[in-house]
Amino acid sequence: MTNPLHLPFATRTQVFRLPIPHGLRTALPAKDQAEAALSALLAGGEVPRLKVSRFNAQLASAPAHVVLGAPASWTDAQLRWAYVVLLRQFGTMNDRYGKLFEVVDQGVDHTTTNAPVSKTKAATGMHTDSSDARYNPDLVALLCLQPGSRGGQSLLASASELLARLRKSHPTLEAVARKPWPRDVVTPGLAQNLSAIEANAIPILTGEGDDLEFRYMRYWTERALDKLGQPVPANLTRLFDFIDADMDENALRFNLKRGDMLLVNNRLMVHGREAFEDQPGAARRCLVRAWVDGFVDSPGNRLPLRD
Ligand SMILES: [Fe+2]
Repeated sequence: MTNPLHLPFATRTQVFRLPIPHGLRTALPAKDQAEAALSALLAGGEVPRLKVSRFNAQLASAPAHVVLGAPASWTDAQLRWAYVVLLRQFGTMNDRYGKLFEVVDQGVDHTTTNAPVSKTKAATGMHTDSSDARYNPDLVALLCLQPGSRGGQSLLASASELLARLRKSHPTLEAVARKPWPRDVVTPGLAQNLSAIEANAIPILTGEGDDLEFRYMRYWTERALDKLGQPVPANLTRLFDFIDADMDENALRFNLKRGDMLLVNNRLMVHGREAFEDQPGAARRCLVRAWVDGFVDSPGNRLPLRD
């Protein structure tokens, strides 16, 4: 008999979907008032309170993500309004890149500039968000306004399941994952010199169980070491290769459609997206990313606010 723990993630579970809260439908502003209502919310206006205990339970531990499908017939402003109302139930929306950050292909190249991959059409590789050692968003959220015409599948993988497999097959590499490694500094407004890069060191893995925190950005780590004139240690490359191969095999792949809102626990889940291509004349792929700090309604797993 096959041990279910060894089944690939994608065959063991599907992306976890829940219906949008009823309160969102009843409070939805009319189409011609949604833009003003959204502006008021983003300026700090009060949000309707929703019942979100089910969502907290899904986000605080496995499966550590949830997808809600709002009606595709809602206007962009109505969808953004509903998205902000939903996210504000869980904490504070971080403003570092703007509370709502449009993930669209801006024709830039992250390999030759400091542009984030979120402004390109490239595959992102599996990663967790934020390359800044001092800041890690609790939730990463994406609202799909336009899925685009080709590619762009979403990917999700569980850090705790990966850790279990790492311990089984490469136990000596766990110590490598728990050591801080520098990451390139690409956050706007932060100093980007070599000492800043050296100081921006982050372990891939900290904690255990409910306190597990996984922070993975292979590309920015290798680039940091390159800028510092340091070779990538062989055991770090082995670890990266294991993580990438494991996620390639086990990540859940799925398509977001218009109206879908994906919420991901950024400590416990690693995410990515495949490359995409906008077709001439077709609607361009557009997702709206947000970072949320702090679960406010999850007493069992309260996550602290961060700056
Ligand atoms: Fe991301």
